[in-house]
Amino acid sequence: MCGIAGYVGSRDSADVLIGALSKLEYRGYDSAGIAVSENGSIKVKKCQGRLKNLVDKMDREGKPVGHVGIGHTRWATHGEPSDINSHPHGNKRVSIVHNGIIENYKQIKDFLLKEGYNFVSETDTETVAKLLDYYYDGDPIATITKVLAEIKGSYALGIMFRDFPDVVYAVRKESPLIVGIGKGENFIASDMTAILEYTRNYILLEQNEIAIVEKSGVKVVDIHGEEVSKEMNVADWDIDAAQKGGYEHFMLKEIHEQPEVVKTTITPRISNHIPTFENEGISLDKLSSYNNIFIVACGTAMHAGMVGKYVIEKMARVSVTVDIASEFRYRDPLINEGDLVILISQSGETADTKAALELAKERGAETLAIVNVKGSSIARAADYVLYTHAGPEISVASTKAYMVQVSVMYLLAFQLAYAKGKISKEQLVEYTKLLENIPEQIEEAINLKPACQFAASKLLNADSLLYIGRGLDYALSMEGSLKLKEISYIHSESYAAGELKHGTISLIDDGMPVIAIATQKDLVEKTISNIKEVKARGAFVVLIAAPGVDVEDGVSDVTICLPEANQLLMPMVAAVPLQLIAYYTSVLKGNDVDKPRNLAKSVTVE
Ligand code: F6R
Repeated sequence: MCGIAGYVGSRDSADVLIGALSKLEYRGYDSAGIAVSENGSIKVKKCQGRLKNLVDKMDREGKPVGHVGIGHTRWATHGEPSDINSHPHGNKRVSIVHNGIIENYKQIKDFLLKEGYNFVSETDTETVAKLLDYYYDGDPIATITKVLAEIKGSYALGIMFRDFPDVVYAVRKESPLIVGIGKGENFIASDMTAILEYTRNYILLEQNEIAIVEKSGVKVVDIHGEEVSKEMNVADWDIDAAQKGGYEHFMLKEIHEQPEVVKTTITPRISNHIPTFENEGISLDKLSSYNNIFIVACGTAMHAGMVGKYVIEKMARVSVTVDIASEFRYRDPLINEGDLVILISQSGETADTKAALELAKERGAETLAIVNVKGSSIARAADYVLYTHAGPEISVASTKAYMVQVSVMYLLAFQLAYAKGKISKEQLVEYTKLLENIPEQIEEAINLKPACQFAASKLLNADSLLYIGRGLDYALSMEGSLKLKEISYIHSESYAAGELKHGTISLIDDGMPVIAIATQKDLVEKTISNIKEVKARGAFVVLIAAPGVDVEDGVSDVTICLPEANQLLMPMVAAVPLQLIAYYTSVLKGNDVDKPRNLAKSVTVE
């Protein structure tokens, strides 16, 4: 949560920072602010609300002028969204921006209060700024080092000292931060999309390494002040990927990108129609050697894991437990040496997923991360990494990242089924070919836009609705329901269709929408019976069905017929209308589709 940026060069730093923050706004948009070195002092502008408010404020009051600065876009944790709680924090001598949580801020604050410091905000960040001031002795590295020895928690910090007007200092622990290397200018940012306009070259900081960022270059030192040599990385993300490219919203653009990103994700892992993870260090023997498999993730990524569970269990006959990361980490799970824990995460920074990974490692299990952001914390900490190639996902509501996560789940399931001797080589080839064709079927599903828009127009005024399905369709209904509620603000729940009559059906009354998913041949009849049960009680039914599903007249009010696809792979096709229904409902309600209220893209707090 929160995005930070920093600039040192010859350009107008306020402009560069505002541009960078606009790319990071998905990380939080409760407030925004910048600090710039101007004629020997640090000038701060900040205010509550979207970045636009800050830009308007600077248009009215003038912007700080200089070539060195730091910036922040906030997702509030400690202290409500307000002007005062906005970053940067500090005083005349030091100014900082922070992404993360300082767990022991209360003790530090009490100590500094006794030392005569005053606090204006309710944030944990202000205590770090004041602690830097307290220890400041003219040597920024020594000062930062003393502060690092005292603070506990997670942080990515951009720091400026008035006495060093040409330098931005940066340090991270657990929260993401990259240092961008340009020509005659250098940057810091929470992620690469913020600075792609200027450079593709970047270095990653290890925990508590301090970057000294100047116009002429970047030096990195460890906690003892010793210089560390760093490897240069080159981002392969396309700058266009971080722009809307003519679409009204990032979410719609990202839905459209799905056929392409699935191809990009699976193609390098398929050779002659056979999946392989050998290049990623995972052999067939390795894959089939584990006693138990756990999949741990949050939100949409967890829903991709649910699809994975159904498919792996069905094909490879290996039991898979799916856990919500925030539950897993505290439920003392029965994991041991010889088990595999798969962590799924788009950002690779989700605090609970990261903690689950650490727990799995402590218990001796091997860890496999399925992650979209290269070099992210989860990717770096796991024993094995399978990168998804969705490119930057800007919309807070995840679509294309889910799709590529699911595609990797299929590859794993096919390989595991083969490794366990549950399918022959010929079957493996057949299944893989089906997956290779799926981008075309996703494309066809995207053409269902008008039908989805129509369905959305029928949901607009609902207070609450249900998503139902069985088996893989139930896994899908979870994702459909989450997508709708997060961007339309309409309450919705997903239910296993057969479970409704054990309580939930009492909610159904006249006109309540129920979105039913029926793509699994063996289960369709049963789902249709459940649909009839809700219909008989007045529900307004939107049915998303595989072609050929035989529905009598009057059973559904709106039917969205999916393109032809093998039923095992139907989740990748049926996910599309679910995403589109959520999208259009949000658009029709006039909501901010890409930045839904109270949310942030990357959840780096537990
Ligand atoms: C919902 C959504 C979230 C994320 C979740 C995990 O649309 O995007 O539910 O899936 O916060 O995030 P990552 O995948 O970054 O670990």
